[in-house]
Amino acid sequence: MKTIEDLDVAGKRVFVRADLNVPLSDGRITDDGRIRAVAPTIAKLVQRGARVVVASHLGRPKGEPDPQFSLAPVAVRLGEVLGQSVSFATDTVGESAKATVAALADGEVTLLENLRFNAGETSKDDAERGTFADRLAALADLYVGDGFGAVHRKHASVYDLPARLPHAVGDLIATEVAVLKRLTEDVARPYAVVLGGAKVSDKLGVIDSLLGKADRILIGGGMAYTFLAAKGYEVGISLLQKDQIDNVKAYMKRAEESGVEFVLPVDICVSAHFPDTKTHAPVPDFEIVDADKIPAIKEGLDIGPKTRELFASKLADAATVFWNGPVGVFEHPTFAEGCKAVAQALLDSDAFTVVGGGDSAAAVRILGFDETKFGHISTGGGASLEYLEGKTLPGLAALEG
Ligand code: 3PG
Repeated sequence: MKTIEDLDVAGKRVFVRADLNVPLSDGRITDDGRIRAVAPTIAKLVQRGARVVVASHLGRPKGEPDPQFSLAPVAVRLGEVLGQSVSFATDTVGESAKATVAALADGEVTLLENLRFNAGETSKDDAERGTFADRLAALADLYVGDGFGAVHRKHASVYDLPARLPHAVGDLIATEVAVLKRLTEDVARPYAVVLGGAKVSDKLGVIDSLLGKADRILIGGGMAYTFLAAKGYEVGISLLQKDQIDNVKAYMKRAEESGVEFVLPVDICVSAHFPDTKTHAPVPDFEIVDADKIPAIKEGLDIGPKTRELFASKLADAATVFWNGPVGVFEHPTFAEGCKAVAQALLDSDAFTVVGGGDSAAAVRILGFDETKFGHISTGGGASLEYLEGKTLPGLAALEG
């Protein structure tokens, strides 16, 4: 793969596909990690006199403009991070984009509006995607792929556009891939993985592949209740994917046969009410129960104190740790203790620690941990999981050659 050093960018319009899909609350950016992560690539291009055209998706709009998914607040924050003004095009390939790009001087930066406001971006139809990619290609001379969080998407700006322009991989993707290689090739052992998040169905591929690679797999978050149900426990009104119970049972059997340790919660913080993550209103009926004693009317929302200790003990002597997915509803302080404990255990261990992805990466920052103390905080959730599964990622394949 070519890097940006291999491109002659001075005076050229350089299209940078970034992943600026940041969490927003009432139009305010709640975690700017992805903006800061790609800024060095943009700054390098600026310094070399490129005219930088940054583009990204935000959320999942339905192929047409939708103000709640506008990238306008991101342009402002990107400007603050870069320390220079960033102009904003109010469309992707229309008159505003053409005029804004045409107005760029060497060393200036513009951000296009959300790529997913155009149906061609995510279309399954090659021709429709290709047409959109042609229009994007007309805005630039060179392409830099640096949206690691989106490389698992076969989308026009990720997959089709690099085929139309001389291209290179950006520094963020290069770093992300180098880290993920350390988790797949010659991994230092013991290798422990913490998996959380809502749905076990999102993690089947990675569990499958980890069963041949990890030494311990610690399960928390919403997906844990399907594991507990597979053990025959009552899980009340907790998140449960009944259709996955047989899969989970098969994984637990395979783990036992191959000497991989599955570590499940032994106690749970439960409530009859899902907490208000905006107002942080107190949750009066919250209690801690053993994992096999979840009341029928209550829902598991975080791992309990005994589980926090258990998880910490399973991470203490690890040489490599990968964490993907929150183990509790960390957005509410009552249920943030599990994520805090996992983050702290990563910091306390001497392991090479990788926090993979959107929600767990945001959790680390929102809970006030110093991100520089972790081995690596990935900007890609789904992308890093698919990489670990051994899948071909369209956005990486497109940058080869
Ligand atoms: C992410 O947040 O994981 C990436 O930005 C990809 O977003 P998507 O799942 O909507 O494609």
